[in-house]
Amino acid sequence: MMEYSIIVDKLTKKFGNFTADNNISLKVKKGEIFGILGPNGAGKTTLISMLTTLIKPTSGTASVMGKDVIKQQLDVRKMIGVITEKVTMYPPLTAEENLMFFGRLYGMEKKELKRKIAAGLEEFQLTKFKNKPVGTFSLGMKRRLDIVRVLLNNPKVFFLDEPTVGLDPITVAFIKNKIREINKNGSTIVLTTHIMQDADELSDRVALIDHGNLMACDTPKKLKNKLGKKATLEDVFIHYAGEQLRDETQRMSMAPRRGI
Ligand SMILES: Nc1ncnc2c1ncn2[C@@H]1O[C@H](COP(=O)(O)OP(=O)(O)O)[C@@H](O)[C@H]1O
Ligand SMILES: [Mg+2]
Repeated sequence: MMEYSIIVDKLTKKFGNFTADNNISLKVKKGEIFGILGPNGAGKTTLISMLTTLIKPTSGTASVMGKDVIKQQLDVRKMIGVITEKVTMYPPLTAEENLMFFGRLYGMEKKELKRKIAAGLEEFQLTKFKNKPVGTFSLGMKRRLDIVRVLLNNPKVFFLDEPTVGLDPITVAFIKNKIREINKNGSTIVLTTHIMQDADELSDRVALIDHGNLMACDTPKKLKNKLGKKATLEDVFIHYAGEQLRDETQRMSMAPRRGI
């Protein structure tokens, strides 16, 4: 039996001369919630885009459930669900129409699809909005609907890029609980976030990325313990990001001063 759902080996992505992800190697175990952490611009979305076959690596390899993300793109796509920062729904179509459309795209039989859509809308408290155009939805409603869409396809690995950004605390708590439930039901979860608390609460293990480099990969507990009793994951991050992070903070806080 395969122990890992994802194996990343020396993965690099360059945009021109700029290296967004630099020689990253890591393994995600089956059934775990794996957090990819890092500040804005660290290379999280680029990494997830390579793992979900949306962009091609410059070098290195990666596999999802034993399938190569470059050579077996379609096999990978069939097994995964992806929630990107931008919601992938058609604004003029209603919630139900969107779900019907995507369900058919996934090749689902109509009757089963209808049953799953009704159950999903109910579970994510969207039933009463099912006939409203998605364009009229709040971000929290769109995000919930996007999760319903992905779950139609029973993904073995579920990728979520910044699932909690921009949402109110009630929706954040709701979505975190759903992520835990989806994981308990058997899906491996990979999520990115720059919100340390979310990563800490959700993840079995985390990878810390900064400037495209993997700086650490372990359980939040072990990473914190290395720094001392009261260390937070934020402390851990700053510890590993070191000089680079301080430079960036300084530049930002210095900028207005120069104008005075
Ligand atoms: N298509 C692209 N072309 C050029 N640069 C890009 C492209 N996509 C991302 N980048 C750059 O790569 C870096 C990492 O981006 P990204 O992976 O989106 O970071 P994160 O998701 O961690 O915020 C950023 O500096 C970003 O500007
Ligand atoms: Mg991103």
